[in-house]
Amino acid sequence: MSTFKDLTVLVAGATSPAGVAAARALCDAGATVLAAGSNAERLAERLPFVHGRYEVDLANHAAVTEMRQLIDTERGPIDGLLHLVGGWRGGKGLAGQTDADADFLHTQIITTLRNTTRVFHEDLLASKCGRVAMVSATAVDSPTGSNANYTTAKAGAEAWMRSVAAAMRAAQSGSKTAPVPQRAAAVRWVIKAFSDEATRAAHPEANTAGFTDVAALGEAAVSLFTADATTLNEARILLPAL
Ligand SMILES: NC(=O)c1ccc[n+]([C@@H]2O[C@H](COP(=O)([O-])OP(=O)(O)OC[C@H]3O[C@@H](n4cnc5c(N)ncnc54)[C@H](OP(=O)(O)O)[C@@H]3O)[C@@H](O)[C@H]2O)c1
Repeated sequence: MSTFKDLTVLVAGATSPAGVAAARALCDAGATVLAAGSNAERLAERLPFVHGRYEVDLANHAAVTEMRQLIDTERGPIDGLLHLVGGWRGGKGLAGQTDADADFLHTQIITTLRNTTRVFHEDLLASKCGRVAMVSATAVDSPTGSNANYTTAKAGAEAWMRSVAAAMRAAQSGSKTAPVPQRAAAVRWVIKAFSDEATRAAHPEANTAGFTDVAALGEAAVSLFTADATTLNEARILLPAL
């Protein structure tokens, strides 16, 4: 467990209601929060309260590496990484799962996760409370033909995160040569879908049963840094639903 004022957390893909809620909760807890997104204006408009904003294409490994260098210069190494980049393509049955949609989902869901976790891996290992989390979907557990491309990408992202967790364990508590107490953890959160108060107020007729309010993501983001790393590492946590 760490004091939040000592923690720097990067929210990668921060301009959606989920990203704003997570960034807000971590700021309120006292952390230094950095936000990354593909558009500087959206970052400034939606996240005026964070401590640093970075316009970057998270699908581009060189650009993510450059961002890490900039963050390192401006803020030092990070302690936490929340990967929130998403996207959805689907419908049209199994035969309608196009290559274009599969490529898009692979880029958004897997490539951005690979880039951010690879580039910040050493930061997270060096931290006294290194944490990385991504958001998966209950659809992985109940796939359909019409969302085959999507569930395949999310299942791949989950497999990648389990590998990140294994690497974190092997570098710390599971080290064959110099084991140390586990400090770093990689976590998969799982939801059906996100919902937020403003959208529910604008569309009271919409069925949001089973959806997760973005406030619950904020609470989970804060809990990441207060729970024990050994317990958290490789955990798959279903976030509370409305
Ligand atoms: N929404 C849901 O109902 C739902 C359901 C299941 C799982 N999830 C998962 O939960 C997480 C958050 O969901 P979300 O709906 O908030 O995600 P999202 O809106 O699809 O993506 C989050 C943010 O990522 C940024 N982004 C997209 N591509 C980027 C790129 N190449 N480089 C930098 N930033 C990029 C976008 O901001 P800019 O366009 O401003 O850059 C966007 O606001 C995702 O991993 C998603 O797959 C969501």
